[in-house]
Amino acid sequence: MKTIKELEEIRKKTLEVVNQRKDRTTTRIVVGMATCGIAAGARPVLLAIMDEVSKLGLTDVIVAQTGCIGLCRLEPIVEVIRPGEEKVTYIKMTPEKARRIVKEHVVEGKVVDEYVMHVVDGKVLNDYSVQND
Ligand code: FES
Repeated sequence: MKTIKELEEIRKKTLEVVNQRKDRTTTRIVVGMATCGIAAGARPVLLAIMDEVSKLGLTDVIVAQTGCIGLCRLEPIVEVIRPGEEKVTYIKMTPEKARRIVKEHVVEGKVVDEYVMHVVDGKVLNDYSVQND
């Protein structure tokens, strides 16, 4: 378990990398950090992603934050954009799920389908509370 101070160091280092890398050969991991996302637990998710990226020594990955994604009830939301591939949106993230996404999707290129948001005709099919609203 890392201390808050250690995690803050990781955050700072990762943000430095974010600011330096502007080419499109990198994978982007974007975490929704609107108020709803933070309330749903986006901060530990973001820290877990940064920690995993750092632990695995991934230098071609940008971790970024964004604001409102427009899907409060599905937060925490993480988007992964690998070079030349479609954006994949993961919903209801936890730190554990997020670490798995870094290992399996970002590193190995295997989408973790069970956490992906599936939308058909404007309805989210893997979240029935939303579908039946
Ligand atoms: S306020 Fe929650 S996604 Fe915009």
